[in-house]
Amino acid sequence: MMQINLDISKAMVIKLDDELPEMSEFKEGIRRAPKRELILNKEEIGLALKNALRYIPEKWHEKLAPEFLNELLDKGRIYGYRFRPKGSIYGKSVNEYQGNCLAGKAMQVMIDNNLNFDVALYPYELTTYGETGQVCQNWMQYRLIKKYLEMLTENQTLVVESGHPLGLFESSPDAPRAILTNGLLVGQYDNQEDWHKAISLGVTNYGQMTAGGWMYIGPQGIVHGTYNTLLNAGRLKFNIADEGDLSGYLFVSSGLGGMSGAQGKAVDIANGVGIIAEVDYSRIQTRLNQGWIKKIVKDPVEAFDLAQEYMNKKDSISIGFYGNIVDLLEYAVKKKIKIHLLSDQTSCHVPYEGGYCPQGLTFEERTQILRTDKAKFIKFVNQSLTHHFELIKTLVERGTYFFDYGNSFMKAIFDAGVKEICKNGENPNDGFVFPSYVEDIMGPLLFDYGYGPFRWVCLSGKHEDLVKTDKAAMDCIDPNRRFQDRDNYYWIKDADKNQLVVGTQARILYQDAVGRINIALKFNEMVRNGEIGPIMLGRDHHDPGGTDSPFRETANIKDGSNVTADMATQCFAGNVARGMTMVTLHNGGGVGIGKAINGGFGLVLDGSEKVDTIIKKAISWDVLGGVARRSWARNKNAMETAINHNKENKTGDHITIPYLVNEDLIKKLID
Ligand SMILES: NC(=O)c1ccc[n+]([C@@H]2O[C@H](COP(=O)([O-])OP(=O)(O)OC[C@H]3O[C@@H](n4cnc5c(N)ncnc54)[C@H](O)[C@@H]3O)[C@@H](O)[C@H]2O)c1
Repeated sequence: MMQINLDISKAMVIKLDDELPEMSEFKEGIRRAPKRELILNKEEIGLALKNALRYIPEKWHEKLAPEFLNELLDKGRIYGYRFRPKGSIYGKSVNEYQGNCLAGKAMQVMIDNNLNFDVALYPYELTTYGETGQVCQNWMQYRLIKKYLEMLTENQTLVVESGHPLGLFESSPDAPRAILTNGLLVGQYDNQEDWHKAISLGVTNYGQMTAGGWMYIGPQGIVHGTYNTLLNAGRLKFNIADEGDLSGYLFVSSGLGGMSGAQGKAVDIANGVGIIAEVDYSRIQTRLNQGWIKKIVKDPVEAFDLAQEYMNKKDSISIGFYGNIVDLLEYAVKKKIKIHLLSDQTSCHVPYEGGYCPQGLTFEERTQILRTDKAKFIKFVNQSLTHHFELIKTLVERGTYFFDYGNSFMKAIFDAGVKEICKNGENPNDGFVFPSYVEDIMGPLLFDYGYGPFRWVCLSGKHEDLVKTDKAAMDCIDPNRRFQDRDNYYWIKDADKNQLVVGTQARILYQDAVGRINIALKFNEMVRNGEIGPIMLGRDHHDPGGTDSPFRETANIKDGSNVTADMATQCFAGNVARGMTMVTLHNGGGVGIGKAINGGFGLVLDGSEKVDTIIKKAISWDVLGGVARRSWARNKNAMETAINHNKENKTGDHITIPYLVNEDLIKKLID
């Protein structure tokens, strides 16, 4: 064996170092992931150990095999803790990284930002957000990916399969520098049990969306979407004028974690009053320290009194309620308190893995019982979700607008045994009784026009670059074109004042295809002129064309095609073909394994004319592929956008547009 391994080692120039790193200390106060489901038999445990040891020279196997076994039994996964770098991780200025090309260095900034101790949910477990969304599976992969990125040239592409760097392969300067996939499973095995087995064996990774896509920008990434959703929910349900805001209105929700942590900030920016319940005190404290909530209260009476005080004076405040959302809603129902807007952002895509803390358990008890008695935990979750549903139902009957905010909440209620959550009273095939935010708001008002969560990172790490890009982006927007443009204009005007940055100097700004292209071209020109350093441009996967997810992004697709995943796959392939720097495709995302296919991209703006061409071709495709599919599903606003695009015909694109059929004709035939 020794000789074979020696030959193997000699055959690789990019590999982990020969010396074994010392185990670095686990700092107190850093949140740790709970134990994950482990359903492997004896042989499979052996296979998981062999799989992890594949990264490591043979001389260390005897020492590491028992260490990895301990990790597997204790945490349900092999993270390879020993291979963690010393100290904290954060995205540094791109110049501080080693590499043979700018893209290789830029991707290292992005990875380190995803693992930044102020940004990541469980940094020691490489988990960025959404309870289980990881950058890669283990620290051996992290080290190896970094080494590959340091070696990467303009003529190679790094292939990363579920966190595993398969290698560098010769391509061309016009090809992506990295292609990432996460959690993709063959249909027959695309279910919870096989998934758990594969992830414990160390052969797949839950990338969420931007965690494994290396494009996370902290909770800011979701603030703009949440702000848009809340504002438009108010307009839709409470007749707030287009130029009005949420002053005097109350929004209640739960979760102050990775993405959910944005809710307080979003309602504050929309001038409303928000109470957000959170069971983990450390997360509330983090959001208070970051200025993302204004006050912590521990008692429902105090929470609603404070909310009323601010509603009366038409002032805004975001209140973190330390406690269970079900307790908070129980109090509201009992006291007949009026809640205008209600949602939930617990990690309900994985309720039985700790994502949802049941009523009656503290956060600490939830972690303990998850480890010691999983069956009991599941029972508690089901009881709590059932009661949660009853409370929401009562509030909705009293005039509250409840919407599912993309965390698979309604599916979790169904899985808990509540068939009443389904429109047909039987199964989710015809949808749920409460709307998803995409169905009512985000889909028709934003995605169907192509508006989505465009974002950028200033790779220099300089705040002054971000300020310059904010100003340049604002100058590209005509606030009088549509109400969406007016919202976006005010958003970017106040973005710096609203102190949204956690981690790298980054910005989120909803834009449609034209807006994104104009802004990207302007930024690239600024890089060319030396006004700013290079930029990593991208978007959330949660976008018009990036994600097929029937309970979320494609919830407003009504032609029956929401069970297909062609759009997200085509989006991915088209972005590869057009030379985006980094392109990614995932299973799962915000709603859980098997429930979505989603993808994204990163594009390094280096000031070159080549990048101008990529911007025009690839960004146009990335957005309009989604609009074209939405148009084909007969979505009115998407059809209008597609018709205009065909008429203008500036780009060589041509979209197939559906003929509409007289409803009476069909009715007469089928009745
Ligand atoms: N709408 C979107 O665009 C979008 C985007 C990203 C993620 N998501 C989904 O939203 C969910 C939340 O994402 P996240 O990144 O914030 O996850 P997270 O796990 O970091 O945060 C969820 C928080 O909810 C808290 N919590 C759990 N049960 C609770 C209860 N009963 N009462 C009060 N607090 C409770 C947890 O302690 C945790 O802090 C996930 O399911 C994710 O997939 C939605």
